This record gives sequence, structure tokens and C-alpha cells, in this order.
Amino acid sequence: MIAVPMALPRPSMRTFRRLAMASAVALYMVVLTGAAVRLTDSGLGCSGWPNCGPGTLTPPMSFHPLVEFSNRMFTIVLGALIGVVTTAAMRLRPRRRDLVRLSWWLVAGYLAQAVIGGVAVLLKLTPVFVMLHFLVSMLLLWGGIVLVHRADERWPNGRAVVMRTEVVWLGRLLAITAGWVLFMGTVVTGTGPDSGAPNAAARLPFPFLRVAQLHADSALFFTGLIVATLFALRIAAAPSPVWRRARWLIGLVVVQIALGYWQYFMGLPPGVVEAHIAGAAAIWVATIALNLAMVVPAEGAEATPIECPAGADAAVTPAHPGTPSQPLVTS
Ligand code: HEM
Repeated sequence: MIAVPMALPRPSMRTFRRLAMASAVALYMVVLTGAAVRLTDSGLGCSGWPNCGPGTLTPPMSFHPLVEFSNRMFTIVLGALIGVVTTAAMRLRPRRRDLVRLSWWLVAGYLAQAVIGGVAVLLKLTPVFVMLHFLVSMLLLWGGIVLVHRADERWPNGRAVVMRTEVVWLGRLLAITAGWVLFMGTVVTGTGPDSGAPNAAARLPFPFLRVAQLHADSALFFTGLIVATLFALRIAAAPSPVWRRARWLIGLVVVQIALGYWQYFMGLPPGVVEAHIAGAAAIWVATIALNLAMVVPAEGAEATPIECPAGADAAVTPAHPGTPSQPLVTS
């Protein structure tokens, strides 16, 4: 284990949570700046990696190198934030193994992204590596959001599952389906004309219309699943934080589908594609956030492990105060 200098202050859980939140926001922003690089055709704006100009880290003074270099600078800010969060996780007292592990997960993902991004540039933006770059960002975002969720002093008391098992599984199915829709989106991009640079590697050999159709159908299936989840949440009298997140998710998906068709029929205008990518990452965040709202930290005194009989509607301490009691399982 790496030693952390003793002179560094010990953060409170509140400070740690803020730092984790800042990293999650930075992760989201880097997805947007990365998309802007592709949509301005600046993907090969730097002549190499890590050097941007010939034999130097800095870019020549022209548009594409400057756009690509700005994105690299954003990723350095993100790296610094992840470093601070990891150091803070190791300085927390009592030390929380889950927070340390999640922070190191972000470090590992960040380093993996540096390698994947580098290989993507060296291979002239070959679609598979560009897809991988986007999808690993989504994994990092997942880790970042879970870290924010876990940055709470009540976690060591155990966890409270505030929804029925069936609804929790429906939430997981939503996350898997969202992952599939994102993957299919990257296939559409990898097949489509926006490679990120004029002299980029060959596109994926699929018919654009077919993959776009499969992506849109997957998105519609995802929407149907969200509607089914909304019904399930109503029947199960979901607590308000769960409701709120489910409403955000359906709202975002409706806008995203409109943007998807708009960009498709209008020939991929860069501004709309950028908004579609922002929407994709936001939907991913909302899907994870919905899942996380179903499993919250238990309150201290009532945290004795309780196992509800399967399917029982037994009213045990609600984990979201002021909301109807739900089957509660702690561990
Ligand atoms: C839940 C809804 C949706 C989500 C989460 C989603 C997500 C995504 C993602 C992640 C990408 C790839 C971005 C990238 O690699 O840079 C993408 C691309 C794309 N999506 Fe969607 N999408 C959704 C709905 C739709 C719909 C309904 C359509 C309608 C046809 C659509 C059309 C497209 C097109 C044409 C692209 C390629 C854009 C390009 O080449 O730059 N999407 N989508």
C-alpha cells in the first residue's frame, strides 16, 4: 500500500463527499470535451501522444491542435482530482475500505483511459478504440457516482434495501439495457461519417441505416422498461427519492430520443450530436442513481441485520424518513 505523507490534513466525510462529487462532475465534463474534439474534427489535432506538437508537449497555435490540447488539459485536471480523492480516502478516519477501493478503481480506470486514448491516436482513431474510450468513461462515471453515494458516515451501519426485490432487479435490468443502448450508440458512431479527423482509420463495415435502427429500437425498448419500472414503483409505493430519480430518467430519455431522431434526419449537426452525447452520459448517471436510491445506508440504531421473508410487506424502519415503509433488508 502506498504511504501518504502524515502532514496532510485528515478530511471530514463531508469534505470527502464534496471531493468525490467534484471528480464525478469532472468525469462528466471530460466526456463532453472529448465529444467536442471528435465533432470539430480535432481527433488528430496533436501530432502524437503524449507530445502534441513535433517533439514538444504543447500544441502549435492553430484550431485543431488547440482543441485537442484543451481536452488533454481537462483530463489532467481530472487526474489531479482523482489523485486528491484517493489521498483523501486513505486519510479518512476511520478508514473505509470501500471508499479506498472505489478511489483506486478510479485511478486504475483513469490510467487505462490514458493508454486507450493514446492507442486510439496512434491507430488514427480506429473505431474500436474510440468506442472503448467512451465505454470505459461510462465505467469510470459509474465508479464516481457510487463513490459519492458511499461517502456517508452511516454506511458502516449496514444497508437498507427500500424496494421489493423484484423492483431492485428491474432497476438492474434497466442498467444493463442502458449499457447496451450506449454500446449500440458507439457502434452507430463508429459506422457513421464523424470519425474525428479527415485522415482517420476506416469506419466499421456495417450499413449505417441498420445499426442506427437497432440502436433506436434498443432505446425504445429501454423506454418501455422505464415505463414498466414507473408502474412497479407506483404499485410498491416507492419512497420519494426513488420516484424523483425515476422521473428524471424518463424525462431525459424522452429528450434524448427526440435528439437522436433529430440528428439522424438532419445529417448529424455537431451541436445536436454533442447534446445527444451529453444526454447519453446523463441517462447513464440517472440510471445508476435510480439503482442507488433503492439501496441506502441504514440508520444507526435500527441497523441490526433483519432479513424479511421473501415477498413479505413487513413494515420495518423506512430508510428514507417520512416515506411509506417498505420491505427492508440490511446486511
Ligand atoms: C435512450 C436513448 C439513447 C441513448 C442513451 C443514446 C446513446 C447514444 C450514444 C452513447 C451514442 C454514441 C456517442 C459516441 O460514441 O460519441 C449515440 C450515437 C447515436 N445515436 Fe443515440 N442514443 C439514444 C437514442 C437514439 C435514438 C432514438 C436515435 C434515432 C435514430 C439515435 C441516433 C443516434 C445516432 C445517429 C448516433 C450516431 C451519432 C454520430 O455518428 O456522431 N439515438 N447514441
